[in-house]
Amino acid sequence: MNFISPELEAYASQHTCSESALLERINRDTQLEVLQPRMLSGHYQGRLLSLISKLLKPRRVLEIGTYTGYSALCMSEGLPANGLLVTIDVNEELQSRVQGYFDLSQYKDQINYRIGDAMEIIPQLNEKWDLVFIDADKKNYLNYYNLVIDNVNSGGLILADNVLWSGKVLDPNLKDRETEILRSYNDIIHNDVRVENILLPFRDGIMVARKK
Ligand SMILES: C[S@@+](CC[C@H](N)C(=O)[O-])C[C@H]1O[C@@H](n2cnc3c(N)ncnc32)[C@H](O)[C@@H]1O
Repeated sequence: MNFISPELEAYASQHTCSESALLERINRDTQLEVLQPRMLSGHYQGRLLSLISKLLKPRRVLEIGTYTGYSALCMSEGLPANGLLVTIDVNEELQSRVQGYFDLSQYKDQINYRIGDAMEIIPQLNEKWDLVFIDADKKNYLNYYNLVIDNVNSGGLILADNVLWSGKVLDPNLKDRETEILRSYNDIIHNDVRVENILLPFRDGIMVARKK
C-alpha cells in the first residue's frame, strides 16, 4: 500500500539528495541477490535516517535489525568522532556480506555488528543510547522498547519502523498478532509520559519517541 501516489513518492525521492556509492551498491546488490529486498530502508528513508542522525549527533546508536546494513550506514553518517553504532541481526547468513560492506565504509571502526537474537543481546549491552532504531521482528517491538527505554538518554530518540503496517492498524477486523502488537505499540508509546512522540506517515510509518 502506498500512502502517497507512486508519482509523488518518486518526485519526493528525485528531490532528495543522493545516496553514497556504497549505499547505492548495497541497494542494488540487495535487490538482485538477497531475499526480501523490500525490507531495505532504501534511498528516501535512508536520507531521513541520515538527517535525523546528523541533527542528533548521537554518541551511541542501537539498531535492532541490520538486514544488509543500509540503515546502519545511513545512521553512522551522524556519529561524532567518538561515536559508536551497535547493530544486531539474528540472520547469520548475511553476516559476511554485511561485514564486507561495513569494512568498505569510512565508519567501519565505529560499527559493532552483532549476530544473535536482539532479545538476548540487548540486556548484555552496557550503554546509554542517544538513538535507537527498532526495525526487526514486529512481535517483539514492545519488548524492545521496554528493554531500551531506561537506557535512553534524555533527548534521545527511539524510532520504530513499519508502525502503520501497510494501513492494517486501521482495520478492526484484522486481529493477527503482528497487527495487534503494532497497534499496541502505537497506543502505548502515545500514552507513555516518559516520551513525547510523533507518528510520521513516512513510507510504512515511523513512530518517533523522544525521551523527556
Ligand atoms: C526490516 S529488516 C531490517 C532492515 C534494515 N534496518 C534496513 O533498514 O535496511 C529486519 C531484520 O530483522 C532481523 N531480525 C528478526 N528478528 C530478529 C531478532 N529476534 N533479533 C535480531 N534481529 C532480528 C531479520 O533477520 C531482518 O534482517
